[in-house]
Amino acid sequence: MEDWWRVVFFLLFILGCLRLLETLLPGELTAGDGAVPRVKRSPELPLRFRYDGSFKILQVADLHYGMGGTTRCRDVLPSQFAGCTDLNSTRFLQRMIHAEKPDLIVFSGDNIFGSSTRDAAESLFGAFRPAMVAKLPWAAILGNHDQESTMTRAELMAFISLMDYSVAQVNPHSLPNELSRIDGFGNYNLTVHGAAGSPLVNSSLLNLYLLDSGDRAVVGGRRTYGWIKESQLHWLRAVSEELQGSSPVPAPALAFFHIPIPEVRELWFRKILGQYQEAVACSSVNSGVLKTLASMGDVKAVFAGHDHLNDFCGEIGGVMLCYGGGFGYHGYGKAGWPRRARMIQSELRKDGGGSWAGVGRIRTWKRLDDEALTKIEELVIWESPT
Ligand SMILES: *[C@@H]1O[C@H](CO)[C@@H](O)[C@H](O)[C@H]1NC(C)=O
Ligand SMILES: *[C@@H]1O[C@H](CO)[C@@H](O)[C@H](O)[C@H]1NC(C)=O
Ligand SMILES: *[C@@H]1O[C@H](CO)[C@@H](O)[C@H](O)[C@H]1NC(C)=O
Repeated sequence: MEDWWRVVFFLLFILGCLRLLETLLPGELTAGDGAVPRVKRSPELPLRFRYDGSFKILQVADLHYGMGGTTRCRDVLPSQFAGCTDLNSTRFLQRMIHAEKPDLIVFSGDNIFGSSTRDAAESLFGAFRPAMVAKLPWAAILGNHDQESTMTRAELMAFISLMDYSVAQVNPHSLPNELSRIDGFGNYNLTVHGAAGSPLVNSSLLNLYLLDSGDRAVVGGRRTYGWIKESQLHWLRAVSEELQGSSPVPAPALAFFHIPIPEVRELWFRKILGQYQEAVACSSVNSGVLKTLASMGDVKAVFAGHDHLNDFCGEIGGVMLCYGGGFGYHGYGKAGWPRRARMIQSELRKDGGGSWAGVGRIRTWKRLDDEALTKIEELVIWESPT
């Protein structure tokens, strides 16, 4: 009698376990026909400062990814051509992630090189894979080459916004009516909140503005590059005002777009840190971006790409204008001048009571893709006046 009950109990137990397993196993493993929708893996949001009060951004400018192992490097030393492919760019990105442990990666356009790929989706996966594998939040905007293969700019941004750990958006959500027609694809803002457990845990202490600077354009019969339009600046002013109005402490902001603004040319005559080795390939149109940024007051620095041989920072009108410096091996470069990446670190200061307050300082430096990932040209971009 007792044994019989034991057998029944045991069978019920086994059944229970099977039911439990069934509910715990992810759908992908049990449904063989691919009917289960693939859900995007999202990073933990909002972005936050670390416990040590820092937030590090890795800027990857002009990755120019093609088809991976079959896409050859450009402009390396004759001795370096053999065996040099897109995978060298991948390796550089992996090493940067390992060395710097960034909190966010910003791919600032020309992420893929349209004319060297048969399949934009495949190239996007190749380009961003190291960020996804590392499960790092990453943002991307478009350059002038991304749309040159099988996807339009709208399709690219939609696709990018759905990739694992991406924080990119096609365009701002919930635009008020008057703002609903905004030029371009990939205009969005990100907030970086205070460290977990700190009094400012629910406040944005650093704001990031990402803008689409377009691709090419013809103005007055002449070919030129795209520019940031008034609709985008209108949106930017509104977001900045809202964020500054709602913040308990002044929150500095950083802006990212691909094509530099015309004012960068003036830096030829000013003090810069880094190399100015080629003409600034900006638009012939000056749409007043710098004027807008200066009037908003919160943007302390702008980070662009596009000109691979320029990697300098210089200040105009209270805004630091920086280049990332060419990152990718399939983009043009200069043989013997290593590919490079820019880091941007924001650091919180402490208040009188010893808790983290607002941002106290923003620094930048670069690393070269040499054996030691040599760190160069460190610069304080901004310091809080208080
Ligand atoms: C590209 O990667 C290969 C394989 O790791 C390496 O031997 C070569 O030195 C790299 N080339 C450059 C220019 O970094
Ligand atoms: C962008 O800014 C708005 C304020 O205009 C804010 O409400 C929103 O949370 C920000 N977006 C992100 C993704 O942080
Ligand atoms: C932050 O927001 C969470 C969730 O709304 C709330 O529980 C918490 O008390 C807030 N913390 C502070 C310091 O404001």
